[in-house]
Amino acid sequence: METDTADTGTGKELLELLGVSKQFHVRSGGRRARLSAVESVSLSVRQGTTLGIVGESGCGKSTLARVIVGLHLTDDGQMIFDGKQVLTHRRRSPAELKQMQMVFQDPSSALNPRATISESIGFPLQVQGESKAAIDERVAKVMRDVGLPAAYASHYPHQLSGGQRQRVNIARALALQPKLVVLDEAVSALDKSIQAQVLNLLTDLQEEYGLTYVFISHDLNVVRYISDDVAVMYLGQVVERGSAKELYDNPKHPYTQLLLSSVPTLNPADSTRDEPVDSADAKDTEIPSPIDPPSGCRFRTRCPFAMDICSQVAPAPVQLSADRSVACHLYSDAAAGADVQAVPA
Ligand SMILES: Nc1ncnc2c1ncn2[C@@H]1O[C@H](COP(=O)(O)OP(=O)(O)OP(=O)(O)O)[C@@H](O)[C@H]1O
Ligand SMILES: [Mg+2]
Repeated sequence: METDTADTGTGKELLELLGVSKQFHVRSGGRRARLSAVESVSLSVRQGTTLGIVGESGCGKSTLARVIVGLHLTDDGQMIFDGKQVLTHRRRSPAELKQMQMVFQDPSSALNPRATISESIGFPLQVQGESKAAIDERVAKVMRDVGLPAAYASHYPHQLSGGQRQRVNIARALALQPKLVVLDEAVSALDKSIQAQVLNLLTDLQEEYGLTYVFISHDLNVVRYISDDVAVMYLGQVVERGSAKELYDNPKHPYTQLLLSSVPTLNPADSTRDEPVDSADAKDTEIPSPIDPPSGCRFRTRCPFAMDICSQVAPAPVQLSADRSVACHLYSDAAAGADVQAVPA
């Protein structure tokens, strides 16, 4: 939940990413090409807090999520988790994998239709070699914690509603007692009223289990509602980072300003758009391909403030305050002396 940053978490970083990159080998126009899905991303998440990640479709949110939990191997960069280095270019050990769990968007396809609810939730524990008694006890506890009646243990996924199925997925993620849960569009497929219930459940569970979340969504209102800090991604890179309140109240990066200008309401109970952002301010709303991203600043082809330097030099993140950074030449020393106009609110 959005609160004063000084009051949230323990202040200790649970997860740190340093210059993490992930490329995919793809075919483009009959040729082999490299698609830069995540490029040199550095981020940190404080213990017990929620980092929201926003950005248009294809900007690399899910790829980053998969890198964090070990479903994708990286090409470059480092990851520190709970004070220890995790090698992200190699397969992880079961002990490492156990500490980070992921909840996906589609509550139905993430569950085996032929397994009962208790079998689905208990499966990761079975893989870890837990005894039947320990599994039964743990499954009963997490089912209670996510608000699923005990009688549902013998039910099958098709007998549950979408919201209940997502509770099963959350319970399954919690069964292994992870420290970090990565939620990738985890409430996006749910009706608004159910979405609000699941968001409240996530907030309660965070407190009870001391969980740290990375929360990904295209819905900017939902991200603001649940996040302590927010990172904005554009074409595989983090362009701005800050506390949810500061970032939404006073966006610095022209891309964040563009993204937020299209949010119709700040009430999470209201619906928000599902379409890509569009703005009269943007020079060109077409997103460049991550196979051949623009030189220098990747956002410059759409930026209403683009300067000469933007095509030549990729802007390094500028630290504006302890928890606020922006990667934009409007704020960097490299642009000092250039004719920089103040960014309109
Ligand atoms: N397995 C893959 N192979 C090749 N390209 C991929 C693969 N997965 C993702 N990509 C590409 O990487 C880029 C980032 O994709 P990603 O799914 O991470 O974006 P996203 O921000 O999660 O988008 P969305 O909001 O639509 O879920 C896209 O250009 C996508 O086409
Ligand atoms: Mg995605």
